[in-house]
This record gives sequence, structure tokens and C-alpha cells, in this order.
Amino acid sequence: MKNPAPEQNKSEAYDSRENWPPYTYRDYPDIKPEMYKSFIEFLSTENTSGRLMELQPWISICDSKCAFCYFPTTATANVSIERYMDMLKKELDMYAKTKYVKTSVFDEIVLGGGTPSVLSAEQMIDLIDFCKERFTVNDEYFIKVTGSSKTLALNKIDKLAAYGVYQMDMGAQTFDNKLRKALCLPDTAENVEQAIRRAKQLGLCVCVDLMYNLPGQTMESWINTLKKAIELDVEIDAYSLHVDPGTPLEKMIERGVSPPQGNAEYEKQQYLTAYKLLTEAGYKAVGHDRFSRVEWHFRENCLNGWPWGGILTTGAGCFMGYLQRFSYSNIEDINAYIATVDSGKLPIKRLSESSDEDMMRRTMTRLYLRLPVDKTEFKQKFGKIPEDVFPQQLQRLKEKGLIEIDDKEIRITKLGDIWKGNIAWEFAPENITK
Ligand SMILES: C[S@@+](CC[C@H](N)C(=O)[O-])C[C@H]1O[C@@H](n2cnc3c(N)ncnc32)[C@H](O)[C@@H]1O
Ligand code: SF4
Repeated sequence: MKNPAPEQNKSEAYDSRENWPPYTYRDYPDIKPEMYKSFIEFLSTENTSGRLMELQPWISICDSKCAFCYFPTTATANVSIERYMDMLKKELDMYAKTKYVKTSVFDEIVLGGGTPSVLSAEQMIDLIDFCKERFTVNDEYFIKVTGSSKTLALNKIDKLAAYGVYQMDMGAQTFDNKLRKALCLPDTAENVEQAIRRAKQLGLCVCVDLMYNLPGQTMESWINTLKKAIELDVEIDAYSLHVDPGTPLEKMIERGVSPPQGNAEYEKQQYLTAYKLLTEAGYKAVGHDRFSRVEWHFRENCLNGWPWGGILTTGAGCFMGYLQRFSYSNIEDINAYIATVDSGKLPIKRLSESSDEDMMRRTMTRLYLRLPVDKTEFKQKFGKIPEDVFPQQLQRLKEKGLIEIDDKEIRITKLGDIWKGNIAWEFAPENITK
């Protein structure tokens, strides 16, 4: 076998896989006035981190809701896009005027969401121009746009490519039309394929989101989807479906309209199948969920800087923002978001400021991102090495064969790859729940 899947012991390291690490936005506390003040004070300091940052404005709007989706989005019909764009720019401008942001350099502008492709090509380009004017970008910065094939008319792709967009991120989910219908995805696999082919023809890099452990998804269906993505020569973010409370899919499963998901073992087998198929096709597993064949993408800065770099995200409901010790998510309701920005306040809903102890734990979650923990840097930041701070956790993980430790760094092993979410949870404080 050329590229075996991550090795598996007969006795499993854990009963089931954790797909998310601790310290996601769901754990951040609701913002209080003194926290807001402390964040504003932080923004008036210089950015001396020496790390490049990512700018990520969200267009939290979709034409229709996919049954599984937990992203806080509003239907296009219920919002004035012009008004939203004005407020999004206003929020961006509020950050751009701070000392912290003025002394920061960005190497990525990413239109996320939601579905930026609900905008016209001209509106997307206008927003990117606005970002380029207000924020300092480095010489090699690149632009990524998230789009759904349901709103990504071919002429929009042409205009974005001509403008210089580097990458199209597309939520393909599955190339199985039966499953697409069941998940309320309004367009067909053929539409998705056509949009991808057009973007590729124009020289864009394309990254598609694919989902596994979908209700009713057979192994054959999953393999066919993976094979199609390999044939289309795209990068892949492979996400294990999490049935979130409040999503239409949760209700569909409850009512028996949709079959349930596969069990933990089936989910694991689907992951291992993807890993094997993709690594045999020359892909490498990188970051939290990506498979890539583009060598230099493995070193993308926004990931590698974790947890000391930053993602400056804006827009209703955005939740991936972090600036060193501060992590935040925005108000989800689009009207409340608009009203808050209009009043001149940052529309933050939840904000967390990490203590030194939290930063040490967060540094260890680099293992979840398939990144090494550099022991010298850890010592410079905290005055101790990881073995001094987390002796039992590291010993346990080493004995299970999930990590390797040498003089320089700590990394996950091939066996650890499949358990990287569980590994991250080993470093979580006890008061955080899964
Ligand atoms: C904000 S969406 C952006 C994609 C874009 N809106 C589109 O649909 O083309 C990001 C991705 O999160 C993934 N996702 C959404 N809900 C999920 C869930 N409940 N479990 C796992 N992944 C999910 C989907 O793969 C989705 O494409
Ligand atoms: S997956 Fe994308 S298009 Fe579908 S509801 Fe979520 S954000 Fe909108």
C-alpha cells in the first residue's frame, strides 16, 4: 500500500472522534462593558507580534438555507444588501482607524460568510477595493472569495478572475444529487462542476467544502464525491457533519423525514477512506480539515501564526475573529448588527481575553491544526517548556503513540492525526464542556 491511512491500534485511543477543539466561539462569554473597554484599549496599542494577519469580512446572507448549516445567516429576501454593505464598511473602517490595525500587515483578504456570491461581481470588487485602501497588505497578499454555485453565475467568476482573485472557496458538500436534494441544496452536482471547471479554466485555485457522515450517505456515494473532487483537481475541506440544534436537519431527523447519521465508527471509517484516497492521489492533510496538493499552501500564515497572529473578521454573526489574546464573535441578528454599527459601536456579542494559562492551552491546540509546538518559542512566551506545564497530558499522549516530542518541538504522529480533536481536548480546562 503506497499511502496507508493513519495507523490504527487494535485498542482504540478514544471511543469516538472529536471534530472540534476547545476554545471555539461557543465558549466565549457574553461581552460586558469592562471587557469592551479593555478590547478598545488593546486596539489602541501597537501590534508588535510580527505576524501577518487575515482580513475576513463576512456577507452573512444566503439565498436559501441548507438543511445542515449552523452559520448565522439571513435570507437575501429579508435584508437590504446596500444597507448591510454600508455598515460592513463602517465596521471595517472603525477597526482600520485603530493603532493596532494601522500597525498590522495583512496577507489575505477573504470574503466569507454566508455567501458573498449573493453580491454582484461589482459589489464584491468594491468591497475588496475598500479593504485594500484602508488596510496595509504585503506584496504577496492574496484574495479569496467564498461562493456557492447556486449564486455564482459564470460571468461573476469571469469578472473576479479578471480582477485578480486568487482562490474560490465553494461549498460543494456532495456530488450526489439525491443527497443534495435531501439536504435542500437547490442546485445540482452538474452546476457545481460547471462553476469549478470555469474557475479552474481561468486559472483560479478552487477549494471545495465536502461533508461526510451525512444522513443516508453510503460509503460508495462518499467515495464517488471524493473521486470527482480529485478529478476536478481542487483542494478539499472535508467536514464531518455535526447536526446542530435548531437546524432544519435536526428537525428532519427528529420527525423521521431524514435518516439519522452513521455512528461514530462509520464516521471514522469515512474519514479514513478520505484520508487514504486523497493521500494516494497526492494530497496532504493540512490545517484543521484541509487536503491540499499545493505545496506552499501548507505554510499559510493565518494558520501558522496561531495563537499569536490574528484574523480580523467583521460582519453579522462572524465568529472566527482573534487578535492575539482576544477572541470574539459578532451579533448574529442582522438588524441588531446594523443598528449597533450605525450607533458607532463595534458589534461584538461575545469576547474572551485569554490569561497566560489559557494562552498556554491554546498554544497546545496547534496540534489540532497539525502544526508543531515550538518549545523554544513556548519558553520565550511563558518562561517554561510544555513538559513543565502539562506533564501528565504529554506523557499520556506519548504513551498512546499520538504525539512525538524531541528537543525542539512536539508534533502529532500519524496515529495521532485521526485523534487530533481529542488531543486538543486533553489541554482544555475542566470548566469547558464539549
Ligand atoms: C459558511 S459555509 C460557506 C460556504 C458557502 N456558503 C456555500 O455554501 O457555498 C462553510 C461550510 O461549513 C460547512 N458546514 C456548514 N454546516 C455544517 C455542519 N452542521 N457540520 C459540518 N460542516 C458544516 C459546509 O461544508 C459549508 O460549506
Ligand atoms: S452552507 Fe453556505 S449557502 Fe448553505 S446555508 Fe450555510 S452559508 Fe448559506
